[in-house]
Amino acid sequence: MSFFHHRDGVLHAEDVPLPAIAEAVGTPVHIYSAAALRHAADAFSSALGAIPGTRFAFAVKANPNTAVLRLLARAGYGADIVSGGELRRALAAGMRAKDIVFSGVGKTDRELTDALDAGIGQFSLELEEEGQVLSALASARNVRAPVVLRVNPDVDAGTHAKISTGRRENKFGVAIAEAPAMYGRLARLAGLDLRGVALHIGSQLHDLAPLERAYRRVGALVAELRAAGIAVTQVDLGGGLGIPYAAGEIVPSLVDYGAMVGRVTAGWDVALTFEPGRVIAGAAGVLLTRVIWVKPGAGHPFVIVDAAMNDLARPALYDAFHRFEAVAPRGERMVANIAGPVCESGDTFAVARDIDRVRRGDLAVLHTTGAYGAAMASTYNCRPISPQVMVDGGDYAIVGERRDPVELAA
Ligand code: LLP
Repeated sequence: MSFFHHRDGVLHAEDVPLPAIAEAVGTPVHIYSAAALRHAADAFSSALGAIPGTRFAFAVKANPNTAVLRLLARAGYGADIVSGGELRRALAAGMRAKDIVFSGVGKTDRELTDALDAGIGQFSLELEEEGQVLSALASARNVRAPVVLRVNPDVDAGTHAKISTGRRENKFGVAIAEAPAMYGRLARLAGLDLRGVALHIGSQLHDLAPLERAYRRVGALVAELRAAGIAVTQVDLGGGLGIPYAAGEIVPSLVDYGAMVGRVTAGWDVALTFEPGRVIAGAAGVLLTRVIWVKPGAGHPFVIVDAAMNDLARPALYDAFHRFEAVAPRGERMVANIAGPVCESGDTFAVARDIDRVRRGDLAVLHTTGAYGAAMASTYNCRPISPQVMVDGGDYAIVGERRDPVELAA
């Protein structure tokens, strides 16, 4: 289901024609559909929520916009955070502290302390020493920190190397072979309430098989811990499900994912946590941009748009594909390179792409930018942080102001 569709020849977000937003707010602008967010959140929790006690923690890194987090809080989601900034965003958006899980390989003492003081529901430990430090911080406050141990199952998720996290050479988690002994030592620390294990093997996964392999390794670990007399009550299965960016791109369905999880975790007798990011927010956003020039090129012409790699870094970083579509197509096509104004050749959204024919001044969108779009924005080339707009039915509101690079600069 798409919440971005052409009506009378003009692309709309829900019931709002995109030229109206361009007119009122300017371009480039990130546009979110509230209905798309609600739909994805409900679809995910319905597909995975069969086991009582299951918790859904939206990966804030995918889209930390306060309006987005508020909407997801109302849909029953907590937050998966990786920094003190994300902690503050999640709390400011009305997420309950106990619904917040803290992932991340480099939590500072300050961040651990702030999260303890807030009373968050789970710390995912990345190394034994972190457990010792957290235990001491918690003991000094007369509390016990709720923790799980993140394991690295050494599974190749089959995704882009830069977003793969579950191979032994990656920086994340502790080697699964070392987990039982470490778990035993951590369980004896007074300031920790050790509840279980966590894993996350990568993002934009196209195949359930590596996930299933990783989950089975965790299931074996849970059995091993229990055989050693250690109680395990929680397992955090991370995020990572892929979404289609290109037409016809095949990704696992939520129903198949839910069925796999049900099959693999049957008999684990634990409360499950999920940390979905992209699958919730990705398809709920587009980046609306205006064509500045159509510039002749040695091969194909360059469509130079007013959005750039500072608004959407994914193509430059991961060679990611984002569909390009004219807001008011004329029914003609062209083959072109699509690039932004930033002064490096990496600021390219597409090469030799068959697209709607566009001219100077036309509006167009890059699709599927709701996750890791605005979230990764920068002011590179002294460009502004682009505004963000939330559409809901026939209404829209600015939920992120354009931020002036000169004001932001030192
Ligand atoms: N949990 C943990 C511990 C993670 O590290 C991540 C993502 C997630 C959950 C959410 O994963 P998702 O469901 O969104 O795949 N900037 C990259 C993606 C980086 C993902 C990092 N970790 C991109 O634009 O593709």
